[in-house]
Amino acid sequence: MDPHHLKAGSETHYEDPGYYDQAYRRRREDVRFYVARVRSELGKRPKPVLELGVGTGRVALALAREGIPVVGVDAMQPMLDRFAERLEREPKSVRSKVTLVRGDLERVDLGETFRVVTAPFHVLNHCYSREQMADALGTVRRHLTGRGRFLFDVRVPNPDELRRDPDKVYKGRDVTLPSTGRRYHYRERWDYDTVSQIQTVEMAFVGVDDPTDFHMQLLTHRCWYPAELGALLHYEGFRVLQRWGDFEGEPLDESHDTQVYLCR
Ligand SMILES: C[S@@+](CC[C@H](N)C(=O)[O-])C[C@H]1O[C@@H](n2cnc3c(N)ncnc32)[C@H](O)[C@@H]1O
Repeated sequence: MDPHHLKAGSETHYEDPGYYDQAYRRRREDVRFYVARVRSELGKRPKPVLELGVGTGRVALALAREGIPVVGVDAMQPMLDRFAERLEREPKSVRSKVTLVRGDLERVDLGETFRVVTAPFHVLNHCYSREQMADALGTVRRHLTGRGRFLFDVRVPNPDELRRDPDKVYKGRDVTLPSTGRRYHYRERWDYDTVSQIQTVEMAFVGVDDPTDFHMQLLTHRCWYPAELGALLHYEGFRVLQRWGDFEGEPLDESHDTQVYLCR
């Protein structure tokens, strides 16, 4: 797979954080889950949590509001800037709970350990090869205390999506982009490479009033099959304590499109 394609697929979707927040504003159940689970892992004394791929702070801000300190790492400066802007509107007691670090989760070394490390909302779908996933898990190991926990979710590969005809264009609802305030027709094209197991979604925004006002976002995800991921976690030294298929605590089965892991 062309590295330029993967770079664009890891970045362009995160270059417009205002749209990111708008697109995922209804995604709340995972936030509630992460807050509850982190609280129960930490017990009474809230110790700092490390979030890899912290983005605009969807989950981290909710933790900070609960009084839990968070160190958030992300590769994309626009996402971190947006999180910093959101923090400016918070009371000092919340702002002081968050530390933001720009870095690559496959390499970052903060020189400290955490009782809980998280990677919410498909962050590890951006690790495209076994080696990259091993590096990311190495980062987790480096930052976990001896009895620490790693909590994350990735997608379950969906055979219907993987079979989609790459020449077909799927129409979505028109959107208003917060960055321009203008209205756009929204179109998607889906492609899947069966060898690398990488899925690409091309998202096109075409101006309703001006079709020359056109731009694209690319999102690439590595499909991690549950058994494959279980083996990788095992050989990278993790023990899976729980594996759920949603954020309500249901064990993973074939009806689910999410896999959620609690590991040590
Ligand atoms: C789907 S977002 C999830 C953000 C946040 N955790 C949430 O729940 O909304 C994925 C995030 O992972 C970040 N990311 C992807 N690859 C990364 C890498 N190698 N190192 C650090 N951050 C990365 C992206 O910039 C993006 O902010």
